[in-house]
Amino acid sequence: MSTQIDSLLHEDRRFPPSEEFAAQAIASAELYERASSDRLAFWSDQSRELLTWSKPFTKTLDWSNPPFATWFDDGELNVAYNCLDRHVEAGNGDRVALHWEGEPGDTRTITYAELTAEVKRAANLFTSLGVEAGDRVAIYLPMIPEAIVSMLAVARIGAVHSVVFGGFSADSLRSRIDDAEAKLVITADGGYRKGKVSALKPAVDAALASRGELPEQATVDHVLVVRRGENEVDWTAGRDLWWHEAIADAEPEHEAQPFPAEQPLFILYTSGTTGKPKGILHTSGGYLTQTAFTHKNVFDLHPETDVYWCTADIGWITGHSYVTYGPLANGATQVLYEGTPDAPHPGRWWEIIEKYGVSIFYTAPTAIRSFMKLGRKIPKQFDLSSLRLLGSVGEPINPEAWMWYRKIIGNKVAPIVDTWWQTETGAIMVSALPGVTSTKPGSAQVPIPGIAIDVVDDAGDAVGAGGGGLLVVTEPWPSMLRGIWGDPERFKETYWEKFWNVEGGPFYFAGDGARLDSDRDVWLLGRVDDVMNVSGHRLSTAEIESALVANEMVAESAVVGAADETTGQAVVAFVIIKESHLEQASGLADITGALRSWVGEQIGPIARPREVYLVNELPKTRSGKIMRRLLRDVAEGREVGDTTTLADTTVMQIITDKMVKST
Ligand code: PRX
Repeated sequence: MSTQIDSLLHEDRRFPPSEEFAAQAIASAELYERASSDRLAFWSDQSRELLTWSKPFTKTLDWSNPPFATWFDDGELNVAYNCLDRHVEAGNGDRVALHWEGEPGDTRTITYAELTAEVKRAANLFTSLGVEAGDRVAIYLPMIPEAIVSMLAVARIGAVHSVVFGGFSADSLRSRIDDAEAKLVITADGGYRKGKVSALKPAVDAALASRGELPEQATVDHVLVVRRGENEVDWTAGRDLWWHEAIADAEPEHEAQPFPAEQPLFILYTSGTTGKPKGILHTSGGYLTQTAFTHKNVFDLHPETDVYWCTADIGWITGHSYVTYGPLANGATQVLYEGTPDAPHPGRWWEIIEKYGVSIFYTAPTAIRSFMKLGRKIPKQFDLSSLRLLGSVGEPINPEAWMWYRKIIGNKVAPIVDTWWQTETGAIMVSALPGVTSTKPGSAQVPIPGIAIDVVDDAGDAVGAGGGGLLVVTEPWPSMLRGIWGDPERFKETYWEKFWNVEGGPFYFAGDGARLDSDRDVWLLGRVDDVMNVSGHRLSTAEIESALVANEMVAESAVVGAADETTGQAVVAFVIIKESHLEQASGLADITGALRSWVGEQIGPIARPREVYLVNELPKTRSGKIMRRLLRDVAEGREVGDTTTLADTTVMQIITDKMVKST
């Protein structure tokens, strides 16, 4: 790993912005100067310029009670008004907000005026169903316009959404509904994936039915169901309502009320080092300021002429910040695509870019690498000349994929912005600014203006140029998470305790390893905790281990993330079968296949292990901690590292012998 990193750090290709691009660029070097001369004044200026405040704020940051920050605390605004009505009032109601493309090829074009009207009706509908400011609403939808309408209508009435990715199982959905005590669930009969309808409503039914055992926990009064897949669904009278029927009855007029800047906007669950997902809480004014600022400057958005497309699902933070809030706050025209990249043919994405004249494209390295594998012939069949800016997010992009992206997709001219950030940071933190920064393949480069990051050692001391260590954010930022839903202690412990008492601290600990090269550009080196990054999605080893041991045959399990050419990391599981179930297990034709599917059902297909190895023992320290490092060596086919701290040093030999036999 370290030789590979050293060679990366000697990457000497640089791509300065073209004169033509720089001349029209939104961002300028002056932004850095303004931000460094007075960081807080910089953010309040941005907030006033980019947003419409119903009641202006007089305070910027309150950091008197760390790690709990408030931003623009005495101001009031309505987030949905900022994303909708004000664009219509400014005369841009006819501008297309969404070019929606369904997987089967059906389309909808929705202007800002139409989107505003739909959100007003939905806001009235949610209110009539008893949703009040502060209540939680779970959204479990495919990538259809109603997903965005629902998020904005929830925001409009000051309620809090919790979007659950449509690929998650009924169990995952249930735990998220319970943790947030959601009052309303919005779902669809189904959505299109890989050429077929994939049902969603059954997962909602199952999630709510299993909660019936604990009636005091049953907080959901209604389930709103969008008709999309036209598949048969079960119906619970009194609880379930068709979206199209209910919305037709809703009042069309709705005046957006202002809410405080710190009004909770959404909860989004993400994997942590322990089994239970964390409900990351974001609030309104600071979040919208930083998402709008970064969306405009990092993507060089010219809202009158650009067509922007971010391929992320709204179930992830990228979908929240760079499909819903950032682009709509900025009045952008964007593409929203329902399906998978390869349905019905492997050129579907490029076809969409050609069809809508997409000029700004934001996707993940895992997608780029899978297109690379298919070869340049496929994108070359389409006219991609409209593209003028490319973005990458979710995991480190290797220089080879970066160069391919630049050459084959960006026609050697479009600047690439590699954006580092997290669910917790809410918005982009580290990235080149197009038109300003000379880009460098493989490095996320520099903190955006107004953001303070560093790379430190375990004691919190800066490692300086050339050094490797841990990435920290050294000053609070507007879109920072405000906490973990219902668990302030866990918030402190997870992100702040490690660098609490350091000079200049406390620092926010991101969980990523990083290095600074001699230009002080940041190179991300992956997670340093027990969190994996599979196709740009975070999964915790503990979560998958607990799903495995929930299977009656499994006694113990250990999960590691192993390097994978396409997905970045892949899930590899080591499993001990219970003595009492050995016979049953050996009777199964494909026990490892059965366990892989089991995990898929328990958590969702993204968590399905690439490999499951049956073992008799797991490598543990004397204090009983599983040494995942050693298992990772095995999973990645390396010689096993130092085993001296194992309670039983022969265990690794037994495991590797067994694996050699089984492959
Ligand atoms: O490890 C980093 C990686 O993704 C993690 C955050 O995951 P999530 O909260 O799901 O948000 C993903 C989309 C913002 C980070 O801790 N990561 C994200 N972007 C990059 C990255 N690693 C390297 N380079 C990036 N550009």
